[in-house]
Amino acid sequence: MNTVRAIYPGTFDPLTNGHLDLIARGSKIFDHLVVAILNNAEKQPLFSVSERVEMIQEATREFDNVSVSQFDGLLVDFARLQHAQALLRGIRAISDYEYELQMALMNRRLAPELETVFMMPAEQYSYLSSRLIRGVFRLGGSVEGLVPPTVIERLHARASRDRGQEG
Ligand code: PNS
Repeated sequence: MNTVRAIYPGTFDPLTNGHLDLIARGSKIFDHLVVAILNNAEKQPLFSVSERVEMIQEATREFDNVSVSQFDGLLVDFARLQHAQALLRGIRAISDYEYELQMALMNRRLAPELETVFMMPAEQYSYLSSRLIRGVFRLGGSVEGLVPPTVIERLHARASRDRGQEG
């Protein structure tokens, strides 16, 4: 029997309920879904890759066909190593389309055997992004209901650690 393994790549700094919604949808249509965190040494992330791995593992515990991994270099190389047939990406609004189209076509050129599958998150999350979450949280706004509880806990832990360092 043919099984379909898909990769859901991203930065996930941090995981939002929009990402989680997409993981839930992906886990229903793929036999196995690997959430793959880009380990980008150039960027200054809010959370380390290992913290992000832990948070995503905690938030996706209920899905037994979802695993969490990290990668660097080309996504298509990681997908091949993982024997994946598909890449999963979320599209929230028309504004996402151009960037996503460029990536999908570049990835297709690099690995024609890999198919990019787009899914739409639930509309209540259609404006959400990790960047917005980081910004609102930094300025003291509530992100309750927009990220999983494990992310809220880590955001608070991070904020009190930062306050400790300042004082
Ligand atoms: O959630 P993001 O930050 O929009 O995810 C972007 C990501 C990680 C999917 C993309 O930057 C990526 O795949 N980077 C790996 C490098 C690569 O393969 N580049 C060529 C594809 S255009």
